[in-house]
Amino acid sequence: MWARGVPYAEFGRLRAEAPVAWFPDEGTGFWSVHRYGDIVAASRDVATYSSARGISFEEPTDEDMAARRTIIDTDPPEHTKLRKIVSGHFSQRAVAVYEHFIAGLTEEVLDRCPDGGVFDFVDAVAKEVPIRVLARIMGLPEADLDLFIDLGDRLIANTDPDITDVVWGRDDTDAYRRYPFRSPYGKQLWDLGRQVVKGRLADPGDDLLSRLLRGEVDGDRLSETDLDNFFSILVVAGNETTRIAIAQGVLAFCERPEEWDRLRADPGLLDSATDEVLRWSCPTHFMRRTATTDTTLGRAQIRADDKVVLWYVSGNRDEEEFDHPDTFDVGRNPNRHLSFGRGGPHLCLGIHLARLEVKVMLAALARRYSRFELAGEPRRIRSNFTNGLKALPVRAYR
Ligand code: HEM
Repeated sequence: MWARGVPYAEFGRLRAEAPVAWFPDEGTGFWSVHRYGDIVAASRDVATYSSARGISFEEPTDEDMAARRTIIDTDPPEHTKLRKIVSGHFSQRAVAVYEHFIAGLTEEVLDRCPDGGVFDFVDAVAKEVPIRVLARIMGLPEADLDLFIDLGDRLIANTDPDITDVVWGRDDTDAYRRYPFRSPYGKQLWDLGRQVVKGRLADPGDDLLSRLLRGEVDGDRLSETDLDNFFSILVVAGNETTRIAIAQGVLAFCERPEEWDRLRADPGLLDSATDEVLRWSCPTHFMRRTATTDTTLGRAQIRADDKVVLWYVSGNRDEEEFDHPDTFDVGRNPNRHLSFGRGGPHLCLGIHLARLEVKVMLAALARRYSRFELAGEPRRIRSNFTNGLKALPVRAYR
């Protein structure tokens, strides 16, 4: 079902008929939460809905979790401490200093695209910008960027045989259960991260990684495992997601040229268009929590240790929250979408950076192109977790 596309109609039916539903499959089964209000309520209540057993469908053991736990798999107070180390570097003010760099990079990437000719927007544009922004912020070596992109792809799209040869759900991945995304490529990302860290220890700078190396939790330096995992989540969470938003946004505009004309005619719509692209694209479909105690959500009787999956992609189309939720409207206001999470302490760390990247890209595209056309079938990543595109053939006209 997910290989064909996001099942919006099924989610609509579930919101109406079974807002919190039990699905017995996927290992021990899971509660599936479809309505906006229930998703926000569960995100907010971190004492009842824990992140400490991971945020995917997997069922890691305590030892697996200890090896691969990143900030996203922690609860307060540990979460609060980890978040404090990095939050200042990702505030709206802190990321604003990168605007000039992002704008220059975006123009450079677009300059390489043929006017009126066909190109793959994912490969030529969407893939190029987010990793280079991260490289700048974290001080990643230019020579490794293609490898970072490749490893990140193999992790995020660990269910797509076109992208990785070790497919979760198809292959035996037991040997890799302590690595990010239960993949051997998670280990490769750690190893690459360690090399970068080694270089930075020898030659510290003012980049984020150097500051992480100086970062302390309760007087202790971050452990090697913490560093490995911080490194991998920043690279994976900050790269693929933003790429997806940019590519899905352009697809939406290819299909709705009137919304493109509207945005071009009124640059005052750039902020609302950015958030509409984020709501519409919902790069991360869900996050999982685990109940710490018996509780109720809506009419569902949840038991301690049950898995609870919060479908942001469904909440983003909830008619109780959004007027005409299935309409792509660049002027939508208010737009309290769930694409970065909402209500809880795990709200995306990169929210301001991602918004800035998407906004700068939309502004550059709007200045440059009067029209986009699809020049072939867009190809989706086979995944229920990410809304990624493998290919988006387009023709763009000045
Ligand atoms: C369009 C782009 C992005 C989307 C859609 C996105 C989405 C998300 C979502 C849904 C969460 C979990 C929220 C929750 O469970 O409450 C999250 C967390 C996170 N994101 Fe993003 N993200 C994006 C870009 C970025 C960027 C650019 C970075 C930074 C480099 C980043 C770093 C993180 C981190 C570190 C977390 C974990 C935060 C925590 O647990 O406290 N993300 N993101």
